[in-house]
Amino acid sequence: MELAALSPAELADRLTALRGEYDRLKARGLRLDLTRGKPSAAQLELSRPLLELPIADDHTAQDGTDCRNYGGLQGLPELRAAFAGPLQVPAEQLVAFGNSSLELMYECVVDAVLFGVPGSAAPWPRSGGTAMLCPVPGYDRHFALCEKLGIDMITVPMTDTGPDMDEVERLAADERVKGIWCVPKYSNPTGVTFSDETVRRLAAMETAAPDFRIFWDNAYAVHGMAEADEPLADVLSLCAERGHPDRAFVFGSTSKITTAGSGVAFFGSSPANVDWLLGHFAKRTIGPDKLNQLRHARFLPDAPAVRAHMARHAEVLRPKFELLHTVLEKRLGGTGVASWTRPRGGYFVSLDVPDGCATRVVRLAADAGIALTPAGAPFPYGKDPRDRTLRLAPSYPTLEQLHEAASGLALCIELAAVERLAAG
Ligand SMILES: Cc1ncc(COP(=O)(O)O)c(C=O)c1O
Repeated sequence: MELAALSPAELADRLTALRGEYDRLKARGLRLDLTRGKPSAAQLELSRPLLELPIADDHTAQDGTDCRNYGGLQGLPELRAAFAGPLQVPAEQLVAFGNSSLELMYECVVDAVLFGVPGSAAPWPRSGGTAMLCPVPGYDRHFALCEKLGIDMITVPMTDTGPDMDEVERLAADERVKGIWCVPKYSNPTGVTFSDETVRRLAAMETAAPDFRIFWDNAYAVHGMAEADEPLADVLSLCAERGHPDRAFVFGSTSKITTAGSGVAFFGSSPANVDWLLGHFAKRTIGPDKLNQLRHARFLPDAPAVRAHMARHAEVLRPKFELLHTVLEKRLGGTGVASWTRPRGGYFVSLDVPDGCATRVVRLAADAGIALTPAGAPFPYGKDPRDRTLRLAPSYPTLEQLHEAASGLALCIELAAVERLAAG
């Protein structure tokens, strides 16, 4: 039943019972972790054949490149061709480089700040300051990157179709606003996929800054868990159609496809933006790790192979997301003190508790041996103005550990909510 409907006497009784239950939970000395949005060991095993590929005697790419040697700044053509479809970027406009898309995002922002991007009259900070739009809740590392580089962050609420576009269009009329962070598919942490209308408006909108960029972090492009994948509109084509061919920077990686940290990252954009980035790369390296790219191209030779491989990931992930939902629903359903997302892909669940309770829930859980991502993490500067949103990551623990962690978490949420209600 709705906890808010309990009388003061009923609340007091409930609080006593919950405190007893919580003390018993604490006494168990658990050590569980719901913070890590990374693949589990079972998922990493799916890519074992990649690590076993006999590359020593067969290191020549399809175009005759000896992958043991320097060169090939844009990345192996066959790997770019395999990921062109999944990332919705023509292979010739796709760059395969390094092992981390976050690093590519960092590079792009640094280069924009130091030099400007195609279409800039000056480096970003020299044209009236630099701010980025940050849909919230969002990915903490995007925000940490901005904070580090001194870029102001302006929050925009996420809706179930993507960022609130009325707000985005209003704020983009300020010349200081140089870009927006987007995780357009199975978003971190809400799981939302942007609607076609949202993508069209992002592509078409007027921006005061002529060098405005959409940072299209498509980290979960092929990470659906449901029967049917959620379609995402093609941002690069739409931007080009609406007369803003250079507006979108697309990012992706195989971090959550093959091996996290030892995969391959991608950047896709207009020819002008690709030339711009390669021009900067050329000053810091003679080429990427083509042997790793070759292994990836052989393991995942085309888009159907990528999708078949991701279906195996989905089989491992789906039961975990279902279990998390079932455990939360069993204890908190109908109480009116928690709501959470049920994503059809990606790695996270976003959970809202009553205003002012998120920090308390994290504390209670930590004291009971259950690590949660700090309250506020999905907001710029780590500050959730309502102190109510928590990001849960069910991928890494085993089903058994997840069951224990989710049950303990649900108890902590109920306890924090009843404490608050009882306090009036
Ligand atoms: C939205 C998003 N972008 C990027 C990354 C990191 O990607 P990479 O390993 O390619 O740097 C993550 C990892 O959790 C993520 O959630």
